[in-house]
Amino acid sequence: MQVHIVTIFPEMFPAPLGAGIVGRAQEAGLAAVHVHDLRGFTHDRRRTTDGSPFGGGPGMVMRPEPLFEAVESLKLPEGAPIVALTPQGAPFRQADAERLAAEEVVTLLCGRYEGVDERVMAELATERLSIGDYVLSGGELAAMVVVDAILRLLPGALGHAPHGEAIADDSFTSGLLQYPQYTRPAEYRGMSVPDVLLSGDHAAVERWRRNEALRRTLERRPELLAQATLSDEDRKELRKLGWRDA
Ligand code: ADE
Repeated sequence: MQVHIVTIFPEMFPAPLGAGIVGRAQEAGLAAVHVHDLRGFTHDRRRTTDGSPFGGGPGMVMRPEPLFEAVESLKLPEGAPIVALTPQGAPFRQADAERLAAEEVVTLLCGRYEGVDERVMAELATERLSIGDYVLSGGELAAMVVVDAILRLLPGALGHAPHGEAIADDSFTSGLLQYPQYTRPAEYRGMSVPDVLLSGDHAAVERWRRNEALRRTLERRPELLAQATLSDEDRKELRKLGWRDA
């Protein structure tokens, strides 16, 4: 997979994308991340990427020409997604990470200043994504979040086999929050690990984990339950916990 990132701050990217699973995925050749300096696509001596807004108002707006020219220089295959990171975008969800991870080339455009010329948003970007309901000072951190979420899904990116299992247990993949995890020691400062996890009874462990995922989701993110795939047994368990399904 090829990922292109267009930004006026290319220096922000190497550390976050060089470590851990995302760094390993690149070293293993599963993905290549190319960071492009938007200023390389300006034509004036001062390498201007912004202008004041038509109609007046505070702040500066990113000009369209460098962004269009940067994307054109990438010679993207027909239909490849061009994602603008913006607080005005659709919420970025695990399903978007899964969808983008299936692409061969993904391009991310990082906005800065008070906004980006709407012709870029409407005509150059094929979609707009937001990583949450808060305003960052630019799309760079959001692009890193999106790249991280995508690259860890590439087959082989998670060091341990089989790939599908770790992914399937992730929060959100199943539509539920992940169950609680424990490791050694079995007792720490008077806090012990649930007995069932030490029992060696795999079916009982699976049942406990499923029920804990349901409980946690009901307590913390009840709105997720409307979209989750639930068995009759799940529904029964949820009702025991006080859930009133729609
Ligand atoms: N740029 C600024 N804030 C953002 C956000 N919340 N998501 C994506 N891009 C952004």
